[in-house]
Amino acid sequence: MGHTYQAVQWNPQKKRYDQLVVGGVLLYLAVFMAVSAAVFPEATLETLLIRGLGTAALVLLHIILSIGPLARRDPRWLPLLYNRRHLGVTMATVAFLHGAFSTLQFHAFGDVNPIVSLFTSNTRVDSIAQFPFQPLGACALVIVVLMAATSHDFWLRNLSAPVWKALHMLVYVAYALILLHVALGSLQTESGTVTPAALGLGAVWLGALHLRAARAEGARDREEEVREAAAAEGWMDACGVDEIPEGRAKVVVAAGDRVAIFRSEGHLSALSSVCQHQNGPLGEGRVVDGLVVCPWHGFQYRPRCGTSPEPFDERVPTFRVRVEDGRVLLDPRPLPLGTETDPVPVSSAGSSPA
Ligand code: HEM
Ligand code: FES
Repeated sequence: MGHTYQAVQWNPQKKRYDQLVVGGVLLYLAVFMAVSAAVFPEATLETLLIRGLGTAALVLLHIILSIGPLARRDPRWLPLLYNRRHLGVTMATVAFLHGAFSTLQFHAFGDVNPIVSLFTSNTRVDSIAQFPFQPLGACALVIVVLMAATSHDFWLRNLSAPVWKALHMLVYVAYALILLHVALGSLQTESGTVTPAALGLGAVWLGALHLRAARAEGARDREEEVREAAAAEGWMDACGVDEIPEGRAKVVVAAGDRVAIFRSEGHLSALSSVCQHQNGPLGEGRVVDGLVVCPWHGFQYRPRCGTSPEPFDERVPTFRVRVEDGRVLLDPRPLPLGTETDPVPVSSAGSSPA
């Protein structure tokens, strides 16, 4: 244990945020219990409190599991990400109160130890309608309390990042256990269909959010791979195919030169962006009738070899391009003047250099 414990560093923002979270939970409990009392007049105060705390923990868990993928997509969610641990501790506390009150209510008045009773009083594992749903909640509770107890950086450093991360990935196991706890529990209690329905919607929401985030991450990883492989061969990642409008160019700086990558009739060609006439910005020109036209005085160049049409004899260097996974790769080494290169189709994913 090489690291010493440092108390949580509070700052005014964190304090305000915590007050908001606690206030939000209390408000939720008050509204939930008032509405439930009106809908289920026969329900006791204890039952209302147990249900209120259980659903509050569930709502907090959904918020916690949504923050990561949302923040990856939109940085405006980042403040919530920085405070996610506080939300986690709040959720574990609320879940603990729910579990403790339930254990008291249903297991404390017999002659068996309440914890033993919680795990042994119902053994109908062969029946979906009678399934022992409470032990599922208890296992989930152990996980969320363990996570809250180890959420401080002190544990992150002492357990090492991979162990800590693995432990905290257990939140998905806890989530699955809670899904079963609530779904199976709803078959045995008269708490209505709203909670199971909301649970289903919540699962669809979280599933879709995580799938989208995973896809975006996969695409980013592939782009990174393309970039690294290209760099290893001396090629550079110039831009995305979609960044080049038809008939126009994207100008990039390659090895100190300005290079214009033109798109014409679905094909790409790269030539120096410096016009041979008076160094005009060729890359700001257009492709007209298959020829690149300089915007300053109209000099023309053939995209495939960089030479001007007869009777002119200006020549600009050309460069090799290729397309991989929607990215345009450029070899920043200019080809000898007048070298012919076949324009590369924009859809030529994975094609080799022309
Ligand atoms: C020792 C642990 C636990 C025990 C003994 C326990 C027990 C119970 C019981 C008896 C009910 C039925 C209440 C009723 O409708 O009358 C219930 C429902 C519920 N529990 Fe738990 N639970 C535990 C852990 C958890 C955890 C960790 C969560 C979530 C974070 C959770 C969320 C819920 C929810 C959302 C309901 C449904 C409430 C409703 O239908 O309105 N429980 N639990
Ligand atoms: S600078 Fe290009 S045509 Fe004059």
